[in-house]
Amino acid sequence: MSDADELRALDARHLWHPFTQAGTAPPPLLITSAQGAKVTDSDGRQYLDLVSSWWVNLHGHAHPAIAAAIAEQAGRLEQVIFADHTHEPAIRLAAGVAALLPGDLDRVFYSDDGSTAIEVALKMAHQYWRNHGEERGRYIAFEGGYHGDTVGAMSAGKSSGYFSAWHDLLFPVEMVPFPATWDGDEAIEAKEARALAALEQALAAGPVAAVLIEPLVQGASGMRMCRPDFLRGLEQRVRAAGTLLILDEVMTGFGRTGADFACVKAGIQPDLVCLSKGLTGGFLPLSMTVARDQVWQAFLGQELERAFLHGHSYTANPLGCAAGLASLELLTAPACRARIKAIEAIHRARLTQLAERPDVARPRITGTIAAFDLVGDEGYGAAIAPRLKAAFRQRGLLLRPLGNVLYLLPPYCVEDADLHHAWDVIDEVLDGI
Ligand SMILES: Cc1ncc(COP(=O)(O)O)c(C=O)c1O
Repeated sequence: MSDADELRALDARHLWHPFTQAGTAPPPLLITSAQGAKVTDSDGRQYLDLVSSWWVNLHGHAHPAIAAAIAEQAGRLEQVIFADHTHEPAIRLAAGVAALLPGDLDRVFYSDDGSTAIEVALKMAHQYWRNHGEERGRYIAFEGGYHGDTVGAMSAGKSSGYFSAWHDLLFPVEMVPFPATWDGDEAIEAKEARALAALEQALAAGPVAAVLIEPLVQGASGMRMCRPDFLRGLEQRVRAAGTLLILDEVMTGFGRTGADFACVKAGIQPDLVCLSKGLTGGFLPLSMTVARDQVWQAFLGQELERAFLHGHSYTANPLGCAAGLASLELLTAPACRARIKAIEAIHRARLTQLAERPDVARPRITGTIAAFDLVGDEGYGAAIAPRLKAAFRQRGLLLRPLGNVLYLLPPYCVEDADLHHAWDVIDEVLDGI
């Protein structure tokens, strides 16, 4: 038995893969290395990673600058309890991210992944009001929003369609419509007006702890995009109602939407922002919930109960923070900014062309994210998804359609020729399917 065969047999014997029905899924690809925008399997075949490995990778796999920063940090300080202690990578990364975020979003609470960043924000919002002498248990979120797989995050994302097995576990979160739009959408103003009216109505029904949204792009429910105008309208309503605005920028952060953050692109000022995925350039799990000064102030006092009594074993892990610092340096370099623009331009040219096909609907682009719907069966369980995935895999593309939604979300280092090739292959596969 070759090493690869032995590993595959052990995987089949011992592993439980995420979001996978092992009863029907083909065996997973055994990946042995990765470089730039490509991952390589045990047979030496390469695949262009057009999903940035679940939206985490920014600058390419095994980027030497990030790898070196982690190695250097591992030889100096790998981990230390973050209560009563602090360290340079956590401090510098917090200051670096705060400098890119708008206004006084200056106070960073670290946790482990996107889901925990959301749990932290929901809990902070709740306690913020309690510390002000009010009990506020109502949250508002958006239809189709996805915020992670822990119980609070599932509650806020329960309309995304992933959580029917656990509906009876979830706490109530009120849902308002999300005005998803695409190129040439003539009904968008009416949809936005309806969504804002529903939001106003929900806000008027009584005190709300917070409004939570994935700004500009709802990722997991099918790369559903909204206009910056809508977010500005939403911000006004949230301000008028005197509640907190939480942005889930777990996917949209760090350049994906063409700006450093979606809130910068939309010109809005949230009270809390959740960041993860690209935070470490895709190397290590780490997240942040970033709060405005007035949120932080509400937790100060003489009593322990006023403090935010929440934390995780690996809070502010130095290796993750070192990766984050190296990634931030790459992100803010002019070369990376130029790549982000180039990717958007290629997406624009190629999707405009592809959208002439009768089987392609709702073409949409925000920054480096391009998506469209395939006409026919809809939803995450659409039968076409596994067939498409297999056809792309055969042709060396790592693409994972969200049901009948096909999207590209490449690392910024992807080469123009490779990205063009991917669009060519998509056209060819759609011809054959
Ligand atoms: C917008 C958004 N929020 C939260 C999460 C949860 O992040 P994690 O999977 O790191 O827990 C995701 C994951 O895809 C996401 O896309």
